[in-house]
Amino acid sequence: MPPHILILGGTAEARHLAADLAARPGVRVTTSLAGRVTRPGVQAGEVRIGGFGGAEGLADWLRTHDVDALVDATHPFAESITANAARAATAASVPAVVLRRPGWCPAPGDRWYDVASLAAAAEALPGLGRRVFLTTGRLGLAAFAHLTDLHFVVRSVDPPEAPLPPHTEVILARGPFTLAGETELLRAHAVDVLVTKDSGGDATAAKLTAARELGLPVVVVRRPPLPAGVTAVPDVSAVLARLGFDGF
Ligand SMILES: NC(=O)c1ccc[n+]([C@@H]2O[C@H](COP(=O)([O-])OP(=O)(O)OC[C@H]3O[C@@H](n4cnc5c(N)ncnc54)[C@H](OP(=O)(O)O)[C@@H]3O)[C@@H](O)[C@H]2O)c1
Repeated sequence: MPPHILILGGTAEARHLAADLAARPGVRVTTSLAGRVTRPGVQAGEVRIGGFGGAEGLADWLRTHDVDALVDATHPFAESITANAARAATAASVPAVVLRRPGWCPAPGDRWYDVASLAAAAEALPGLGRRVFLTTGRLGLAAFAHLTDLHFVVRSVDPPEAPLPPHTEVILARGPFTLAGETELLRAHAVDVLVTKDSGGDATAAKLTAARELGLPVVVVRRPPLPAGVTAVPDVSAVLARLGFDGF
């Protein structure tokens, strides 16, 4: 039987890894998606959609589908599935690799305010400006709903879920975004302050450069820690090396 690799996806890196593995003869690759976005991008190999039912459900899935290796390539803020993946891999005795793109680091000229949560970002905002560009995704916006004096421009792939702040404009868009486009957006909406998760990667980093060039402060929600004992590799080639495919 060909080796079966399960990728926990929802990121560009997961798509790139699936494309690489699916192109290799004699490798079976399945990507698992949570089913949160209505139009997920094109995905090579097999795809399954929806939760597993916790760590036990995922461990069962690994056993019943004869998975030989698990790659957790989920988003750095997808904390529950990462914890479940670590437990399930141990329970099912399946080797596991965690792929996490490196976080963003400030460059000279950046005015970044690091916070540990969306709630802490909301607390920091009133001192930083009245017009906020919020790029933390469509979920969790309840943390900002009490900020009735601020104006929010929210950008997300799918429409955000209530409760939202009363003064909210929504822009539906999917990256990658360009520096020219981000600069124009910040100017056109007279943005005073940007809020972002530390997602890392190039696709959504242009807003940080645009904010720096315009002298705007950025509230950066830092990542939750990985589960105890878990370490991550930074890119697809490191995953391939861990899986024993480097040099092929
Ligand atoms: N959080 C973000 O900012 C963000 C941004 C971009 C993309 N994403 C992607 O969106 C998905 C959901 O993110 P989240 O933050 O809601 O995750 P989460 O809070 O860690 O996961 C919540 C539950 O959703 C299910 N789930 C999550 N990812 C899954 C996957 N790849 N395949 C199957 N089930 C999955 C699991 O349900 P069961 O317990 O029932 O298995 C998990 O317990 C992830 O795949 C992530 O890569 C997240």
